[in-house]
Amino acid sequence: MKKVLTGLQPTGEITLGNYIGAIKPMTKLQDEYDSYLFVADMHSITVAQNPKELRNNIKKLLALYLACGIDPNKNTIYIQSENEYHTNISWLLECTTYFGELSRMTQFKDKSKKNANFSCGLFTYPVLMAADILAYDIDYVPVGIDQKQHVELTRDIADRFNKKYGDTFKLPEPLISESGTKIMDLTDPIHKMSKSGDNEKGIIRMLDEPEVIRKKIMGAVTDSEATVKFDMENKSGVSNLMNIYSAITGKTNEEIEKEFENCNYGEFKRSVADVVVAEISAIQEKYYKIINGNELDEILDKGINITRKIAKEKYEDMKNKMGLGR
Ligand code: TYM
Repeated sequence: MKKVLTGLQPTGEITLGNYIGAIKPMTKLQDEYDSYLFVADMHSITVAQNPKELRNNIKKLLALYLACGIDPNKNTIYIQSENEYHTNISWLLECTTYFGELSRMTQFKDKSKKNANFSCGLFTYPVLMAADILAYDIDYVPVGIDQKQHVELTRDIADRFNKKYGDTFKLPEPLISESGTKIMDLTDPIHKMSKSGDNEKGIIRMLDEPEVIRKKIMGAVTDSEATVKFDMENKSGVSNLMNIYSAITGKTNEEIEKEFENCNYGEFKRSVADVVVAEISAIQEKYYKIINGNELDEILDKGINITRKIAKEKYEDMKNKMGLGR
């Protein structure tokens, strides 16, 4: 059975972009693949975190996974920091990764510009991501387009290691859905909707009150044309709303253009808000039951037992091939 894996950082409350780009695809893939889904808490400390908030966000993210339809019987669910082999493998991979390669990562270039005192972890972050993936011989990695470059780097690192030390890793492929490629900020649709964005009005969070979500969608930036047509370059606001509508309803852009042929933007936005609110409200209802229940521990214990065994084996294999230890 082929394997899929993805992870999200528990930094702040996750957004509709995270849901559409990574979690929703996993709810489909889990029926066909051996699926791994984790909380990337080690990645989150590459920038400063408040420890109390971080611990709280980890639990919230796990509860959201389940509430979004991630089935614990079909997925191995775990917390990255509970499996020390990820960082062990990451070190071995760092020593076969070039400084130049990491310097070219666009996410690093963007994030390091924001804070002159960025951590070394921010720089080596993509190698830890490679370790997360390569430890399990993963075939496909469902991500938003912002993470594509990191999955491609993972392939390069794996290929180099295989050539140098013998066949060790499977080369993974990024899996990017058409409409969920990149959900944009509602008020600034040339930039992605980000957990850490500056303007709350542009970000739909999975735990926003339904009425707040509706208001944000009704206030989304559009254009002066009043035609619902997909054109990301010239009509980024409307196209972004179409992407959201498409990701939730499964309709194509042509179908959406036809559906709203004779409608103004107000009517279109109302329909987008209706489907988003319906989807998120159902998720929230489940979320509050899970966060107040006690099913998470058992799921996580099971997940960590499975993943530690697999990752340890990969680590030992790498160490042996590299001539480390006795
Ligand atoms: P993170 O936490 O930044 O984002 C989690 C996932 O959500 C996707 N995403 C989006 N998709 C569509 N539109 C958006 N506006 C949007 N914003 C975010 C991201 O592409 C991602 O898929 N490094 C990763 C976490 C990670 C990981 C891994 C992922 C660590 N190890 C191994 C896959 C495999 C990250 O920071 O994602």
